[in-house]
Amino acid sequence: MMEIKKVAVLGAGLMGNGIAHVCAQAGYQVKMRDIDQKFIDKGMATIKKNLERGIAKGKITQEEVVAILGRIQGVLDLKKAVDDADLVIEAVPEIVSLKLEIWKEVDALAPKHAILASNTSSISITQMAAVTERPDKFIGMHFFNPVPVMNLVEIIKGQATEDDTVKIIEDVSKKIGKVTVLVNEAPGFAVNRLLVPALLEAVFAIQEGVATVEDMDKAIQLGLNWPMGPLTLLDFVGLDTALHISDYFVEEFKDSKYRAPTLLRKMVRAGWLGRKSSMGFYDYSGETPKPNRF
Ligand code: 3HC
Repeated sequence: MMEIKKVAVLGAGLMGNGIAHVCAQAGYQVKMRDIDQKFIDKGMATIKKNLERGIAKGKITQEEVVAILGRIQGVLDLKKAVDDADLVIEAVPEIVSLKLEIWKEVDALAPKHAILASNTSSISITQMAAVTERPDKFIGMHFFNPVPVMNLVEIIKGQATEDDTVKIIEDVSKKIGKVTVLVNEAPGFAVNRLLVPALLEAVFAIQEGVATVEDMDKAIQLGLNWPMGPLTLLDFVGLDTALHISDYFVEEFKDSKYRAPTLLRKMVRAGWLGRKSSMGFYDYSGETPKPNRF
């Protein structure tokens, strides 16, 4: 089985920096690529902050943090990011045209042996694989936020993904401390197939005035023992991401049961994307999150 040593992570955002973090922590050499230096700087700062959480708790030493950070190189140039990679993990925004364009470029620049993995939360692996010359080496590797904490990686097999590719990615996932499930491609795979309709339903309930934001969250958190309520979770995942997935489900399944509530679309249009924009179902600009009224 091919040994993975060098990993290129495309995107330094919410998921990208988490993926770079866990790969570097497992000993891989990582290049984290984004299109603007400010995104790279922000991603690196987040990784540093998250690693340093462990120092006070005695889980990691300062020296280990320095060594892990030393294995991550921020890169702007796509060619430089992927031309010596054994594995490319893509975590760019959930826009089909953007993903297809990037994969075409990466396929031309990355070594022929490299495995191409997308961290897409719902988009077709087969469709992305088809724009490359190596659909057998193309796979879905879906992480969960916050990547350093969440134990699961969903591995998604596209139409042409080879079993060897699956084995290598199962092995990498294990090395970075994750448990895997193997899913055959379908919109939303396993987790988002269930999660996204549930989160959308919570927004419909708010839109209809069923309960306040804090009561809806409290009901689900305590009634179902979720670690956080659905509206807090939406703010955490990103309202734009949830909306993209909802629109994608409607298009793929041709079923209006996956439609997004007007309120969600309106919030995204207003730039209320959740935690990352400091405004969503809660207002994060103060000391503690303050629920909004709708
Ligand atoms: N990065 C790294 N570590 C983090 C972190 C972050 N962003 N946030 C929290 N942690 C660590 C803390 O340091 C702490 O570590 P410790 O156990 O070693 O002390 C541990 O996680 C627990 O954190 P806290 O005590 O601060 O807070 P909580 O106990 O409230 O846990 C949480 C926070 C882990 C985020 C928890 O609320 C949770 O599990 N929420 C649900 C998350 C979830 O559902 N994620 C999936 C989203 S769906 C998705 O990503 C798919 C996409 O396609 C849509």
